[in-house]
Amino acid sequence: MLPLAELHLHIEGTLEADLLVRLARRNGVPLPSEDPAELTARYADFADLQAFLDVYYANLAVLRTEEDFHDLAAAYLSRAAAAGVRRAEIFCDPQTHLANGVPLEVVFGGLGAALADARSAGLSADLLVCFLRDLGGEAAEDLLRRALPFREHFIGVGLDSAEVGWPPRLFAKAYDMAAVEGLHRVAHAGEEGGPEYVREALDVLGVERIDHGNRALEDPDLVRRLRDERVPLTVCPLSNVALKGVPRIEDHPLPRMLELGLVATVNSDDPAYFGGGIDVVVAALRSALEMSDDDLAALAANSFEAAFVDGPERARWTAEVRAWRARR
Ligand code: HPA
Ligand code: ZN
Repeated sequence: MLPLAELHLHIEGTLEADLLVRLARRNGVPLPSEDPAELTARYADFADLQAFLDVYYANLAVLRTEEDFHDLAAAYLSRAAAAGVRRAEIFCDPQTHLANGVPLEVVFGGLGAALADARSAGLSADLLVCFLRDLGGEAAEDLLRRALPFREHFIGVGLDSAEVGWPPRLFAKAYDMAAVEGLHRVAHAGEEGGPEYVREALDVLGVERIDHGNRALEDPDLVRRLRDERVPLTVCPLSNVALKGVPRIEDHPLPRMLELGLVATVNSDDPAYFGGGIDVVVAALRSALEMSDDDLAALAANSFEAAFVDGPERARWTAEVRAWRARR
C-alpha cells in the first residue's frame, strides 16, 4: 500500500450511507430513505458543487452527540489507516453543526476523542476548522472567536462550501486573526472559481496550500508562481469528476500538474459521495490515467512535503515512500 498523507478530506464527507441510517435511527432524525443503497444511488449524478452541498448539508442533521462525531471520525480513521494513510489533516464544518443546534464542545469533544485514539494506534491526525464561505466574512470571524477556546483541538483554518461569488478577500480579517493565533491557513480555490480566486487566496489570505487549484492551470504566470514557491495543491480527482469540473477521469489534469513541476497531492475530499477513499482514488489514477509507480511515489512524497508536520516525521515517511518504490 502506497504510504501517504491525506490533506484534503472533509470529515462530514466521510458519512457513509450505512452510518447515516444508523445515526438517523439513533437520534430520531427523518431521512428521505432508510435504505443505504438507495441513498448512495442519489449521489451518482450531481450537476455541480452546489447540488452536492445541498445533499451533504441535509445529511448532517443526523449528527447530534459527541458519540456521533466520534463514530464518524473513528470510521474514517480506521479506513484511512488500512488504505496506507500515515498522516490525516481533516477538515470540519462547525458552522453547520452550530446551525443544527450542536455546540462546539460536542463537535470537538467527539472528533478529538477519535483523533486521540488514532494517534495512540500510530496514525498521525489533526483537525483544520473550515469557514463556510457562503455565510460570509463576519460569520467566519465569529466562528473563529468561538472556536479559540478549543484551540488545542485544531491546527489551522480552511475555507470551503460554494466558491463562485465568495472571493477570498471577504475572509481577510478571519485569516489575519488565524495568523495571529499561529494557525495554519489553507483555502479551497480554483475548484469552480477562476485563477483569480487562487491568486487572492495566496495574496490576501496568506495560505500555505491551495485546496483543489485546478483552474490555476488556465494562468501560466500563476502556474510558474505555484511551482517556484512550491505551493502545494491538494487535488481530488474523483471529486472533480463527480462535481463536473472535469468531464471524465481520463481527462483529469493531475499528470500534467506533475509534469509542470507543481507540488500536487492526491486526496479523496468527500469519499462517501464521490466513489471511495484514497485507495480507490489511487487505483483510478493507475487504471484510468495510467500513472506509474514513479508518479504515485511523487504524489506521496509531495503529500509529506505539504503536510503540517515536523522534519523527523516527514523524513521517516518520505523514506517509507522510497522503500515502497524500491519494492515495486
Ligand atoms: N468543495 C467545497 N466545499 C466542500 C466540499 C467540496 O468539495 N466538500 C465539503 N465542502
Ligand atoms: Zn474539499
